[in-house]
Amino acid sequence: MRREPWIVGVSGASGTPYAAAVLRGLIDAGEPVDLVVSRAARLTLLDETGRSFRDAHWAADLGDWLGVGLDDVDVRYWPAGDLAAGPSSGSYPARGMIVVPASTAACAGIALGLSKDLLQRAAEVNLKERRRVVIVPRETPVTRSHLLHLVELIDAGAVVLPASPGFYGSGADATAQQLIDFVAGKVLDAAGVKHTLLTRWTGELGAR
Ligand SMILES: Cc1cc2nc3c(=O)[nH]c(=O)nc-3n(C[C@H](O)[C@H](O)[C@H](O)COP(=O)(O)O)c2cc1C
Repeated sequence: MRREPWIVGVSGASGTPYAAAVLRGLIDAGEPVDLVVSRAARLTLLDETGRSFRDAHWAADLGDWLGVGLDDVDVRYWPAGDLAAGPSSGSYPARGMIVVPASTAACAGIALGLSKDLLQRAAEVNLKERRRVVIVPRETPVTRSHLLHLVELIDAGAVVLPASPGFYGSGADATAQQLIDFVAGKVLDAAGVKHTLLTRWTGELGAR
């Protein structure tokens, strides 16, 4: 029988490299993954990587995007418009859900229970089932309503983990990939998935 997957929702905020790093981390850890990519996320992916993501060619497009072979990997893909998909029901087995990156629209939709697509519905379902839900918002500056939606999500049990990299592992000369991996590592920590993406604080200033 298939182990319970992590559902990963990629929404249309800037930050598709965070999604790629989290997906690679889950795959490297041998975790089954169910993937949902919103319509807007296809635009950010195109803008940030020059790559298309097509429902009919998801496996090839995902493999190209992540730079990994998916032959022996347990990834299941659900179109964002498929509201009859497995993850739209609480009876569908899942460890929980990670929304990375999370647009302000997705945060609002999940907080308010709009379920405008499978990503929002699946996140709401995982919250109501009291599973671990990790939301990675990316917007700056923010309005009061953005913040209130995040408070609603925290009240509903989500871990809100802003895409806000720390420099203490890599220093002021950090590469973009190190900063991306810092955020992805914190996401995997929140999900309880083992990884080696970030350098952990040792308690010693200047130890690096
Ligand atoms: C290139 C691009 C970058 C965007 N960046 C952000 C962003 O960083 N944060 C955000 O909240 N929305 C951003 N948006 C707007 C969202 O894509 C838009 O609100 C969309 O409706 C989100 O839909 P979704 O939540 O279904 O993915 C961006 C849009 C585009 C095209």
